[in-house]
Amino acid sequence: MNLIEKDSQYLWHPYTQHKTAQTPIAITKGQGALLWDENNKEYIDAIASWWVNPFGHSNKFIADAIYKQLTTLEHVLFGGFTHEPAVVLAEKLMQILPENQQKIFFSDNGSTSVEVAIKVALQFFFNKGEKRTTIIAFEDAFHGDTFAAMAASGISFYTQAFQGMFIDVVRIPVPVKGKEQASFDALKKVIREYNCAGFIFEPLVQGAAGMVMYEPEALDELIQICAANNVLTIADEVMTGFGKTGKTFAMDYCQQIPDMMCLSKALTGGTIPMAITTFTQEIFDAFYDDDINKALFHGHTFTANPTGCAAALASFELLQTPEMQANLVRVNANHLVFQESIKNHPKVIATRVLGTIFALEIRKENEETYYGTMRTKLYNFFIENGIILRPVGNIVYILPPYIITDAQLQKVYEVVENALEIV
Ligand SMILES: Cc1ncc(COP(=O)(O)O)c(C=O)c1O
Repeated sequence: MNLIEKDSQYLWHPYTQHKTAQTPIAITKGQGALLWDENNKEYIDAIASWWVNPFGHSNKFIADAIYKQLTTLEHVLFGGFTHEPAVVLAEKLMQILPENQQKIFFSDNGSTSVEVAIKVALQFFFNKGEKRTTIIAFEDAFHGDTFAAMAASGISFYTQAFQGMFIDVVRIPVPVKGKEQASFDALKKVIREYNCAGFIFEPLVQGAAGMVMYEPEALDELIQICAANNVLTIADEVMTGFGKTGKTFAMDYCQQIPDMMCLSKALTGGTIPMAITTFTQEIFDAFYDDDINKALFHGHTFTANPTGCAAALASFELLQTPEMQANLVRVNANHLVFQESIKNHPKVIATRVLGTIFALEIRKENEETYYGTMRTKLYNFFIENGIILRPVGNIVYILPPYIITDAQLQKVYEVVENALEIV
């Protein structure tokens, strides 16, 4: 049996209907923005492998840091023990997080970082003896696939099998242009009518919904409404964090600051699964008590894994170099030029750019679903042309590693433009 046959015998892939799915592509190596398959075909990874890999594949600087940590202290339990990589990472994050973020809790992936934030929001009020059990979230949000994260997510076919089994979540419209007031009004109404503990949102860009964007001023208004009503705000920066929007965090565009933040994906430069939820001192203090029952009884075996922390520290160092910051500006400049050239194409109905994120909506004849026929056609066309892009229905987005070269970016744009001819 070859690799693909063995894969099909033993493996179950994410978001995959195995009966109808095409066979997976066996990737054998990666370097920079490129990946190669077992037949040595080259692909440009134009979505940084689900947005985790801003510094390029097989990055030597991060790999060396991981090796050093692996051969010093690969892992130690974090209950009752601590270690330098976790402490130094926390200290460094404090320098770039909003100033009210004072405490850091480690977990394993984006979903668990959200799970922790939602549990903390609910237990914060429980510990204070206040009955607040509703979470507010945006329509079409995506916060992950564990239970509380799924409950907060609005993409229904992902979650339809579990309806009725979720925590209480009430949804409000996203304040995209023209819908700001409707969003503010809906938030006020929800806060009036329910006992709301927290509001979770993807700041400025809703990734999985197709890079739907809205303005910082609108988010500021929503956060202010929550603050005035003592509803905790949770900025899910799992996708947007660490430079994607052109600033370190999407929240850096805002005047208001959230009570909690969720970080993962680019945190370790796409090397080791790790996530962080951050909190204000006030939140931490609601769990700080002589009564053990008020503690946060949440943890994962690999919490604060030293190797993951070392990878995050190396990634952090890379992100802050002038060269990497210049890459953010360069990728954005390329996107803006491409946007100008494509926005009036007859098949394009909208384009969006923020930082290193580019999105384009294609005119559709029929109702196009998330995994519909247009999406399949586009996906296959991109793969044939050596570009990894995963359209969301009729939306094509590009979110490349920051180190992608101008020539590689031009190739991606060219293939995207050509794709408009086949749909
Ligand atoms: C905003 C956001 N939150 C949470 C998640 C879930 O992260 P993970 O897939 O690591 O569980 C994602 C994943 O795409 C995301 O985009």
